[in-house]
This record gives sequence, structure tokens and C-alpha cells, in this order.
Amino acid sequence: MKNNLFKGFDTLAIHCGLTPEKWQGATLPPIFQTAANYHPTAESLNDAFAGRTSEHIYGRLSNPTNRVLEEKLCALEGGKGAVVMASGMAAVANSCMALLRAGDEFVAGNSLFMSTYVLFANIFKKYNLTCRMVEPTDLDAVRAAINQKTRFLYIETIGNPKMDVPDIEALAKIAHENGLPLIVDNTLATPCLCRPLELGADVVLHSTTKYLSGHGCATGGAVVDAGRFDWASSRFADFAPFVDRKGPLAFLDRVWREHHINFGTTQAPFHSYLTALGMDTLGLRVRKHSENALAVARFLAERPEVKWVNYPGLEKSPSHDTAKKQFDGKGFGGLLTFGLANKEKCFAFIDNLKLITHLANLGDCKTLVIHPSSSQYLAFAENLKLDLGVLPELIRLSVGIEDIEDIIADSDQALNTIGH
Ligand SMILES: Cc1ncc(COP(=O)(O)O)c(C=O)c1O
Repeated sequence: MKNNLFKGFDTLAIHCGLTPEKWQGATLPPIFQTAANYHPTAESLNDAFAGRTSEHIYGRLSNPTNRVLEEKLCALEGGKGAVVMASGMAAVANSCMALLRAGDEFVAGNSLFMSTYVLFANIFKKYNLTCRMVEPTDLDAVRAAINQKTRFLYIETIGNPKMDVPDIEALAKIAHENGLPLIVDNTLATPCLCRPLELGADVVLHSTTKYLSGHGCATGGAVVDAGRFDWASSRFADFAPFVDRKGPLAFLDRVWREHHINFGTTQAPFHSYLTALGMDTLGLRVRKHSENALAVARFLAERPEVKWVNYPGLEKSPSHDTAKKQFDGKGFGGLLTFGLANKEKCFAFIDNLKLITHLANLGDCKTLVIHPSSSQYLAFAENLKLDLGVLPELIRLSVGIEDIEDIIADSDQALNTIGH
């Protein structure tokens, strides 16, 4: 965009990062399908390596198509810098690894995406890194879990499958009182509904695979840095070289320089192109996802076959007030969970659906259904599944943007088939 006059969410989502004057008039980002970038002089490459220019060097380090997506994400989340990566898990892993040294600890909410849980609870343990998992809505428990070894606090805007919504402002306050950054995985809310950096968080992560791309056509992830945490404090003395180089963007520099480029978690430019294209309609889609999900939640809540419904948009949800306070008034997202009598009823419901698609994904424009206990969480011990809210009778719906009458008609006929 040529000026700073226009600030509306949908306008930014469409126009940010576009430079048609550099792209022979194209108003969509070209796909720069190249593994390395030409430099006309030795000095130019030397400047790029020294960080004196932001010219591209090599595909694993950066790519012009990826940069368009980074600019869009920065604008929508209110960040000062962003790096896109091959997947949401790359963004989670690289961000945590950039902060942790052998023997360190961190505090995380106990309502985490399944692979994030495995990374925190199992894989990090191999490297003597301790994740203290607490109920993120219990602020005293969060405070009590912090000690001298803690390096950061970590939560998700909307927990899955518990559908709980932690209070980001309150958690940012606790983090900052202890000299720690707050990292928020904002995948489920998207910046359309919630902007954690405005609520005090320091870093936002995304699986762009979900609502940001919107069509289930491209995996990807992103780290967005607010650029205001005090990385020069004595607690983060090991950040000194990154502070010297990038000042308030020391964290993003470390994530990129130390981890992303050396672990090779590069985003393919075609995926960035698809994601940027999807983001043109992010606001429209998320509003429609939210409107449809609320209608489906209300429909399910009235059905005798359905034992309970968990959706932050329902007034009786324990997370409703917090979600209302920190979301943008555009809705409560597209994901909900509900319970039938038992696992057999869940399988029968899924098998009888005719429109709603059985798929291990969320955030697609199609309505998706899954029985998490027998699929994503299959390898988890039964008591751990219960702790994580993955009940045997739980079904997860990622409500899409089809006509609401059809989503409800399909749910209705499947419920009629299975009975109570
Ligand atoms: C909240 C959340 N964070 C991270 C991820 C990981 O994203 P990806 O599958 O793109 O690695 C997911 C995937 O479902 C997710 O739901």
C-alpha cells in the first residue's frame, strides 16, 4: 500500500505487501521459484550477508514471495517483524528452541494442540527442558509455576479440544512482572477475531495451514514479533549478540538466524502465494465461520442425542466472558466440540454424514469432522486423554462457510439416524 491512511482489517488483508510497480503490474505476489538470488557485485552480496540490506540471498534463508506474506501478517497482527515457515509446528518449535538453553523451564497452558503437547511434554524432556503445564485460566497456578529457570509463558488463544479462552492481558501482566515474554499461538482465533500483541503478548505464532490459507491447500506457519520485549535484560544476557544486531527484534533475529535457517524449516514460495491469496478473504471467511459455528452450536445444544456442546460463543460457556472481552466482536471462531452418548455413537454419526467431510484438519472453508480420541490422540494413554479433555464421546467440528441450512440439515439427518 502506498500510504498509511487505510487501516481497516479487510483492506490491509488484501492490499498489504503488494508492490505491482516491481512486479510488471501484477497485483498478486509473483511466485519466485528460485533457490538463490543473483547479486551484481561482490559488495552487494557482502552487504546482504552483513544485514546492511534486506536483499535475498538463498532460498532457505528468505524468498520474495514469502516476504509478501510476512508483511501481511505483520500488518494484521500489529507486529514489527515476521518469518514464515514450512508449518505451524516449525513456528512453535523454532520459537521455543530460540529461547531455551539446556536445563531451562517454561510454563504452558495445558490446553494445547496435540503435536505441541508432544513436543513440550515428551521431546523437550530428552534435552532436559521442562515444560510446567498449568490450567491457563488459573492465574495463581500460572504464578506458582514460574521460577528462576523459567524463560517464557506459552498459551493458545482458544484451546483445542477444551475450547477454553485464557485471559491474554492478565497472563501478559504476570509474564512481564516476572521479566518473561508471553507467546500466543493465535491459529484458531486469527487476527480477525483477536490480536494478542495488542493485548500485551510479545510473540504470536500461526499455523497458516488453517484459516489464513482457508482452503486446506497449503501447509505453513509464522512467527510474528511485537518488537517490544526487553531482550537486553540480565535474564536474557544470552540474547546480547541478537540485541546488538537487531535491537527490539532480537527474538525474531534469533529464531531466524539460529534455528529457522539452520534447521531448514523453509516455506515453499508456492505455499506463501496460496496463503497470501487466501488471506484476501480472511475477514469475510472468519465472520462466516463464526456465524455458522454459533448457529450449529445452538442447534446441537437443543438435540436430545447431544449431551453437551463446548463453544466459547455460547453464553453458558465458562470462556464466554473472556472471549467477549478480548475478541473483536466479529464472533468466536469456527471450532466447536460436542458429546454424544459414547464412542460408538460418534462413529455412527461421522459415518452417516453426507456433506460434512471427515478430515484431520481444521479451518478449511468446508465443514470438517473428526473423533480425536481414536485418531489424532490414538497413541495417548487413556488417562492423559481425559486430562487433555479428549473424551471418548467427543466429536470435533470445524464449521465451514457452506450454507448454514445445509450444515444443519446434514447434522440433523445424521443425529436422526443414530438415535439417543
Ligand atoms: C493451534 C495449532 N497450532 C499449531 C498447529 C500445527 O500446525 P501445522 O499442522 O501447520 O504444523 C496446529 C495444527 O492443527 C494447530 O491447530
